[in-house]
Amino acid sequence: MAVALLVAAGSGERLGADRPKAFVVLAGRPMLEWSLDALRAAGIDDVVVALPEGWAAPEGCIGVTGGMTRSASVRAALAAAPPGEAVVVHDAARPLVTPEHFTAALAALADADCATAAAPVTDTVKEAGPDLLVTATLDRSRLWAIQTPQAFRRAALERALAAGKEVLARATDDAWLVERTGGSVRVVESTPANLKVTTPHDLRIAEHLLADRLPRPPAH
Ligand code: CTP
Ligand code: MG
Repeated sequence: MAVALLVAAGSGERLGADRPKAFVVLAGRPMLEWSLDALRAAGIDDVVVALPEGWAAPEGCIGVTGGMTRSASVRAALAAAPPGEAVVVHDAARPLVTPEHFTAALAALADADCATAAAPVTDTVKEAGPDLLVTATLDRSRLWAIQTPQAFRRAALERALAAGKEVLARATDDAWLVERTGGSVRVVESTPANLKVTTPHDLRIAEHLLADRLPRPPAH
């Protein structure tokens, strides 16, 4: 059975709310609870949550204090995880995740060390130097915007997270840590709707999308 690591220890500096981002109320509940619902609906009951100092874990979850960087929080959560050959890592900042995201990522571990949700890139992506002169236009058909959940064979994640502090600090996702230790990473197609709440603008969009999922009062 799979275990889940829900990383929720960030401060949410860019959101600028009065509390850590994962605890900001979104469509009536703390943001991290939306991800917990999706995990449970996917049949994943063993959940370790990496938390900011002083914040309690939601009921039924194991809580650990997160680290200075995202990957340090993942490492702290993994150290407290119960046994399980597959580990799925998810950012509490992606509250629109669905149960299918988790099951699809885990299924893709059949032939890869890591499988990550990803959306095809729809913008044209160019590379530019510090002088803002464009040096390349990338082939969009091969580009993916990486999201979470990311599923891992446990041994591959343990090996990846054994990297030094400076490497962990540079990682914007854990799949990269698997890549750099020679593991295979597969993308699993997702959609831009699984957005990451970073700014107040993102929060407003997420609020609208999640409000659509709430039961409506009966019409009279
Ligand atoms: N995260 C974490 N531990 C950290 C930093 C981030 O567990 N030391 C988690 C966040 O809680 C979030 C996810 O990693 O669920 C993605 O990070 P991000 O969106 O950058 O969230 P914050 O770091 O909280 O936001 P900001 O960078 O604006 O401060
Ligand atoms: Mg951050």
